[in-house]
Amino acid sequence: LAPVAPGRYEITQRVADIEILPGIRTPMWTYGGTFPGPTIEARRGEPITVTHRNELPVPTVVHLHGGRTPADSDGYPTDLVLPAQWTAGHHAMPDPRAVRTHLTRDYTFPHDQRPALLWYHDHRMDFTAPAIWRGLAGLHIVRDDAEETLGLPAGDRELPLLIADRAFAADGSLDYPSVDGTLRDRPGVRESFLGGVLGDVVLVNGAPWPVHEVDAARYRLRLLNASNARHYELEAVTDDGRRLPLVQIGADQGLLAAPVTHTALPIGPAERYDVVVDFAAVPVGGRVRLLNRLGSGRTTDVMAFRVARRVRDDSRVPAVLSTDLPAWDRPVRVREFSFRAGQLDSGHGGRGWLIDGRPFDPARTDVTVALGDVEVWRLVADVHHPIHLHLAGFRVRSRGGRPPLPHDAGLKDTVSLRPGEAAEIVTRFDGYRGRYLFHCHNAEHEDMGMMANLEIT
Ligand code: C2O
Ligand code: CU
Ligand code: CU
Repeated sequence: LAPVAPGRYEITQRVADIEILPGIRTPMWTYGGTFPGPTIEARRGEPITVTHRNELPVPTVVHLHGGRTPADSDGYPTDLVLPAQWTAGHHAMPDPRAVRTHLTRDYTFPHDQRPALLWYHDHRMDFTAPAIWRGLAGLHIVRDDAEETLGLPAGDRELPLLIADRAFAADGSLDYPSVDGTLRDRPGVRESFLGGVLGDVVLVNGAPWPVHEVDAARYRLRLLNASNARHYELEAVTDDGRRLPLVQIGADQGLLAAPVTHTALPIGPAERYDVVVDFAAVPVGGRVRLLNRLGSGRTTDVMAFRVARRVRDDSRVPAVLSTDLPAWDRPVRVREFSFRAGQLDSGHGGRGWLIDGRPFDPARTDVTVALGDVEVWRLVADVHHPIHLHLAGFRVRSRGGRPPLPHDAGLKDTVSLRPGEAAEIVTRFDGYRGRYLFHCHNAEHEDMGMMANLEIT
């Protein structure tokens, strides 16, 4: 995305027909007319302002996932950007005393954080899942000089890959199991989608099962699982059935201390993994398929790479990638949170998803922490829940009472809890005071209540 002035960007949210399936028009909710939205390229320490104008038929909220952002630009779920066609007298205009409202909205991102692949997406209360499903997601990359001197694959050999499943109706429109958008108010429908909404088409950067031509060289794949609810376990498999090593160099919040090699990599909703794959040993004309071991039928396929030519490759993966990962070895407090299904409050009826037995309520403060405190949070899950914390990156200290798994390395902002698992994370609440959130990033779970307020004072 090109700035309109130094450090200033403008995005108009609007309905656009997008060709996702060949020859078929899919009406989508977009950032600027594309899906995914335009990628924002940023530098560490260089603030930008993005002005969003909403020409969609519904209110929206923009959140920069993984951003260390002041609270008033973090996209609180009731801090709405109202549709431009709504005026003061519009019947659906919320009570201005109850909801802060804006017709266009400036979001400011200071980028006082490690270089990382972030993403921006909708975050409206009760309606996040359908809004992301309909297209409101895009990439936001923070870079710095130190990372650029490492010699990692770059330019055409750095590929951000936004992976998201979708389902389509016969007329090409996106299929979501609720007409006006939210599952929370629909007890019958809600019960059948408690696990979240899955699609049967896997999109990478908006294209179904793409084939990307590559050189026989190292590539940096910056993976984001932008799916509402689907978990993947990725592997890169050659025509003759060999699994290429996935050399992980980074996590949600930037580079690891040192590379970690995987043969398969689990990635839950909203997680990012930065991996280097070397295609040098693949014959010209050969293919490498990125497969999902957790899929069935066509969802076992994600995308493929076709090796087009032999080249010289000057890139490298250094043994030391970064030296600034915080230790956080003196926590001042341990808290525990449970993430479980349960009864939603009476007005809604039926089951939903709760944190410590309660569904999200914007009027309640669930946790208050002091700015600068280091805390351990013990997160306990009933089923699979990818838990995300705003503002503060964290490290995984343990899973199920054991040391973290190899893919838990580095600084994260989302941890994928497995069924019945308890994990400990440690973080320092740093940066800004104000009201933030933590929630499950299964987007349907989030809409069905699994979100809580975190006040930093
Ligand atoms: Cu990716 Cu609170 O969100
Ligand atoms: Cu976030
Ligand atoms: Cu969940």
